[in-house]
Amino acid sequence: MYRSVIAGVGGYLPERVVTNEELAQTVDTTDEWIVARTGIRERRIAAEGELTSDLAVAAAKRALANANLEADEIDLVVVATTTPDRTFPATAAEVQAKLGITGGAAFDIQAVCAGFVYGVAVADNFVRLGQVKHALVIGAETFSRILDWKDRNTCVLFGDGAGAAVLSGHRVNGDAEQRGILSTHLHTDGRFRDLLEVDGGPSLNQQVGHVRMVGREVFRHAVEKLAKVVHEALEANNLTPADVDWLVPHQANKRIIDGTVRKLNLSPDNVVITVDRHANTSAASIPLALSVATRDGRIKQGDIVLIEAIGGGLSWGSSLIRW
Ligand code: ACO
Repeated sequence: MYRSVIAGVGGYLPERVVTNEELAQTVDTTDEWIVARTGIRERRIAAEGELTSDLAVAAAKRALANANLEADEIDLVVVATTTPDRTFPATAAEVQAKLGITGGAAFDIQAVCAGFVYGVAVADNFVRLGQVKHALVIGAETFSRILDWKDRNTCVLFGDGAGAAVLSGHRVNGDAEQRGILSTHLHTDGRFRDLLEVDGGPSLNQQVGHVRMVGREVFRHAVEKLAKVVHEALEANNLTPADVDWLVPHQANKRIIDGTVRKLNLSPDNVVITVDRHANTSAASIPLALSVATRDGRIKQGDIVLIEAIGGGLSWGSSLIRW
């Protein structure tokens, strides 16, 4: 058996910054409302012609450099995205080709904002069994392309971006302090599929559609389910909240993060928050936050890092990692 060690992470944000003030010129909102309800101050928007796969490739290259690996050493590419370049082929195939990789497997995962946690869980299973030596897990989104820019309930909340992590297999050596992914927990409850959805699709109406959301309900489910899935991760590893060095939550909304942290009795000092700078980038948000917090020296080798996310489905999950 092997254990998946996070060998490198990288993030990429498109150049164009759109501030709350700028948005307030086109929809009926204010900087004060957005900051107070969400903690978001600005978001990035991909340039015309800049695709989800382009953002993914930029983040992947940084993660590969951080892991000291060449692209052709990767034998699995998993792209978590809700905004694929095309209906098919998989964006992972686009990314694989753009990185110059010709071997191994590449596929997409659709679990919306929980996509990165799902991608990590799936890749971890391949790596643990020894079927894959080095996996690239990418969360990449151009959410700006599925927003209704006239709907203030949703358009202020999201942004574009990508983040990536390289998972590398290390033989399990019996050392209690061995680095790597310690556990993953995934859940879906499709009864809540209409609370957060896109009102289009190839089979439904041959449209791309726009994001629609029952915000209050999503908020309520998010705080409750994220706290539960964090407990699940800790219990599975005989740990308590006090053992967590860094909680790196999905960056949807500062109030959801604060609510979850309060429920868990965690210190806010141990929580990585980047949502103010890029809004909700869906599947990209956790790897973006991981790349910020590793580069600025907060997350260090050996730290206990807990990631968690929830999104459309509803789908949610967590993973506990000894960094
Ligand atoms: N600017 C100003 N006013 C607004 C805006 C805006 N951008 N958006 C909504 N409002 C108004 C509403 O129209 C409403 O006005 P009304 O009372 O006259 O009808 C008022 O603000 C209150 O609306 P609510 O929806 O009740 O506001 P709430 O306090 O619930 O905050 C929010 C809305 C921020 C969306 C909140 O429900 C939330 O955070 N939900 C979670 C949603 C989320 O983060 N989704 C991301 C995807 S899921 C995930 O990643 C976890």
